[in-house]
Amino acid sequence: MEDFSELIKNRRSMRKFTDEELTQEQVVTLLKAALMSPTSKRSNSWQFIAVDNKEQLQQLAHCKEHAASFLGDVALAIVVTADPLASDVWIEDASIASIMIQLQAEDLGLGSCWIQVRERHTAAGMPSDEFVRGVLDIPLQLQVLSIIAIGHKGMERKPFDEEHLQWEKIHINKFGGE
Ligand SMILES: Cc1cc2nc3c(=O)[nH]c(=O)nc-3n(C[C@H](O)[C@H](O)[C@H](O)COP(=O)(O)O)c2cc1C
Repeated sequence: MEDFSELIKNRRSMRKFTDEELTQEQVVTLLKAALMSPTSKRSNSWQFIAVDNKEQLQQLAHCKEHAASFLGDVALAIVVTADPLASDVWIEDASIASIMIQLQAEDLGLGSCWIQVRERHTAAGMPSDEFVRGVLDIPLQLQVLSIIAIGHKGMERKPFDEEHLQWEKIHINKFGGE
């Protein structure tokens, strides 16, 4: 277990992966992190689809015009969906679960990347959520927020550089306050 401050500094988006598969234990650990994510009013409005089937991963790589093609090379994709009828703040619930999965992946020494699905489109102009729904048979009541791509890191990335922290975005006591 990394020190948490180090973990958040080291988590950088990974878009290049090795061929190594994940162990069943790693997959279970990642899914447990998703299921332990906090939700408003404990609605647990999310549902997760774990995809390790290469054919489906190749298909999902086309879910948006840009920045999803590496999905074809990952060991695991966790598709994060939520039910708007179960919570009016399903986007927040699903977003928190998405980052919890990413932080758990980093703690396991794995690389991950958030792929945005909501409000995105395929190269042909189809809404990305409809495309993903079709590939994975997702029922209509669930909205697709993101796909978290996970695998063994295929390159090194520098940790976050604290020199670049935007302290000017922090306001003390009132906006613009010192
Ligand atoms: C809401 C959200 C949507 C994102 N969508 C994508 C995406 O579709 N494809 C992608 O490659 N990266 C995506 N990212 C990753 C960001 O590009 C990345 O987090 C950002 O550039 C900062 O880099 P870092 O994660 O390495 O610190 C997304 C991140 C967030 C939080």
